[in-house]
Amino acid sequence: MSSARSTKSDIADASLSGLGRQRIAWADANMPVLASIRKRFERDLPLKGVNVAACLHITTETANLLRTLKAGGANVSACASNPLSTQDDVAASLALDEGISTYAIKGEDQATYYRHIDLVLDGHPMLTMDDGCDLVSRLHGERPDQVAELIGGTEETTTGVIRLRAMEAGKALGYPIVAVNDADTKHLFDNRYGTGQSTLDGVIRATNILLAGKTAVVAGYGFCGKGVASRLRGMGAQVIVCEINPLRALEAVMDGFRVEPMSAAAREGELFITVTGNRDVIAAEHFQVMRDGAILANSGHFDIEIDIKALEKLSGGRRREVRPMVEEYVLGDGSGEHRVMVIAEGRLVNLSAAEGHPASVMDMSFANQALAAEWVLSRKGELENRVYNVPAHIDAEIARLKLDTMGVQIDRLTEAQEEYLSSWTTGT
Ligand code: ADE
Repeated sequence: MSSARSTKSDIADASLSGLGRQRIAWADANMPVLASIRKRFERDLPLKGVNVAACLHITTETANLLRTLKAGGANVSACASNPLSTQDDVAASLALDEGISTYAIKGEDQATYYRHIDLVLDGHPMLTMDDGCDLVSRLHGERPDQVAELIGGTEETTTGVIRLRAMEAGKALGYPIVAVNDADTKHLFDNRYGTGQSTLDGVIRATNILLAGKTAVVAGYGFCGKGVASRLRGMGAQVIVCEINPLRALEAVMDGFRVEPMSAAAREGELFITVTGNRDVIAAEHFQVMRDGAILANSGHFDIEIDIKALEKLSGGRRREVRPMVEEYVLGDGSGEHRVMVIAEGRLVNLSAAEGHPASVMDMSFANQALAAEWVLSRKGELENRVYNVPAHIDAEIARLKLDTMGVQIDRLTEAQEEYLSSWTTGT
């Protein structure tokens, strides 16, 4: 692999740019809402002269978002929001074809990951676009003097919004940030249908297992967990859901799933997928009772849901790669050995072992990103240092545009219906 390293980019292989360009165009054809925003941005330049620091998964879909920001007049630098999710061909095309400073190499170690975030922060951003809050956390923790330069930010994911709300509660947040994840046109679709499909895509690409007839355990029944569980069922798996929240557990029961604590599910599962956003969901006591050959994957943002350190300890170093992206750990002694398989080191499987969510669902997520960026910049000086929701009119407009591009028409309220809905006198 050649390495293109200049003051402006750090990518794995510049010669991959042609492939990246081709794949970015393929995704673009499935992102019509974002394309329509790009067209308007080109004309109106709402981001003119704004330094944008983007810490996102470097994928074909993200490339089209970054192209949109650039079309709106922004100076964009980008780094990866996960060490394993970068598509090196996309990073090459961003750097070479789009002139976007890009710092991302698939498989980069932790030191390089943070060095890349620092390089993006060296560009003195006025707007941050984060996925998981590592960029914002680094900025506040290591460069407090730079925080005053920020006009606003956006955050893509559940985990990132949770961290931002903790910063807000602790009065540590230094500028307004829009929780893109919480827009309906984001989490109802990206988290559910995107994660549902791309997670199984990652599991299948890594293992080529047949899902029909498998006993699959899904830990977490938020929007991501709902998507994963429903798609597993659709492929013929018998699904057990683990939850800590009684309401969500009840939802899973009434959606027709078996619900069990992990201590019980661990004995039964052949495939485990964590999507909780929390740590140590599958831990030492669970690995010990698993069936031989159990396959483990994580689709939550961080690699903390499966306690890999405990697994390493239990296996005493008896670990080997059995397929690309799959590691086998041997547990127990000679009389009772069993093997546990982990996909993609327990990092988010949909972006490590597959390509992340398909473009047509990222179309809505990234339309929210672009419009939220425009909104927060347009309110410079008016907002507090808080976490803001995407304004409802933006959410509704994205839903309308998406339906339009899908050729779907819907009914409108008649005058009488509007009047009925706004009155309280008509009853039985
Ligand atoms: N998160 C999940 N899927 C993604 C994708 N395809 N691109 C960027 N971020 C993502």
